[in-house]
Amino acid sequence: MTTIFSGVQPTGIVTLGNYLGAFKQFPALQDAGNAIYCIVDQHAITVPQDPKELRQSIRNLAATYIATGIDPKKSTLFIQSEVPAHAQAAWMLQCVASIGELERMTQFKDKSHGKESVSAALLTYPPLMAADILLYNTNIVPVGDDQKQHIELTRDLAERFNKRYGDVFTIPEIQLPKAGARIKSLQEPTKKMSKSDPNTKATIKLLDSAKEIEKKIKSAVTDSDGVVAFDVENKPGVSNLLIIESALSGVAIEELVQKYQGLGYGGFKQGVATAVIEHLTPIQEKFYHLVESAELDIILDEGAAKANAIASATLKRMEEAIGLGRARR
Ligand code: AQP
Repeated sequence: MTTIFSGVQPTGIVTLGNYLGAFKQFPALQDAGNAIYCIVDQHAITVPQDPKELRQSIRNLAATYIATGIDPKKSTLFIQSEVPAHAQAAWMLQCVASIGELERMTQFKDKSHGKESVSAALLTYPPLMAADILLYNTNIVPVGDDQKQHIELTRDLAERFNKRYGDVFTIPEIQLPKAGARIKSLQEPTKKMSKSDPNTKATIKLLDSAKEIEKKIKSAVTDSDGVVAFDVENKPGVSNLLIIESALSGVAIEELVQKYQGLGYGGFKQGVATAVIEHLTPIQEKFYHLVESAELDIILDEGAAKANAIASATLKRMEEAIGLGRARR
């Protein structure tokens, strides 16, 4: 049976970028195999987090998974720090990774750029991400385009480990969404939309009100020629909005371009805002129903128990292959 694994960091409210790149792919996959979804809270602390806010973000993210279509009867949903094997396996994978390959990760370069001092974990978190994936004998990792390099590294580490110590790991494949693999910032449409972007106008959050969504899309950076056309190079802002509506509605970009001819950017932005609001409203309703419920804790407890059983079995195989501890008699 195919195993699917994906994780999201609880670093704030999920954006439309996270939704289109990752969450929107998840529900269909839970019918295609053994689907495992994780709230990767240990990744979140590679940059400073307020402890109270982190706890709330973890809960919000759990409710977001379910509100966007994860069915806990079909999928395993759990919190990374509640499965200790992740950190233990990450240590072993750090021992097969080289500093040079970690320094080449673009996310490390972006997040450390211009900072006087960053945590050592910002450099070493890709082996933790590799552990997240490899512990579950994962075949498919559905993620956005920004994670390509990390998945490549995961494959390299798994192959290196297998070559050195014997066949322990399954080599995973990345799965990108058909549309919306890299949603751009509304204010700097050449940069990806990120939940930790301090410019609140740059991102649409899954919990934004209809008014906020309308305001943010109306102030999205476009250009001055007033023609709705798809041209990522020369019209990145307009193209980003077209990608958003197309990925949400399933309507082809060419059809949307036709629909908005002659309406100007005012009509175009209103149309995109309406499509976003219509899509997010039912998700928001489910989210608020769930987020403070006891049901959510039951789901996460059951998820942690299931994940622990699989992850600790792989961890044992890793330790045996490397020669850690004592031989079992
Ligand atoms: N702009 C994006 N477009 C499409 N997919 C995206 N993803 C992130 N941004 C976009 C995908 O969302 C999933 C969860 O990502 P994450 O939270 O684990 O880490 P990230 O990629 O670093 O996301 P952010 O929003 O940029 O978080 P911060 O600001 O905390 O670093 C992944 O599948 C990712 O590909």
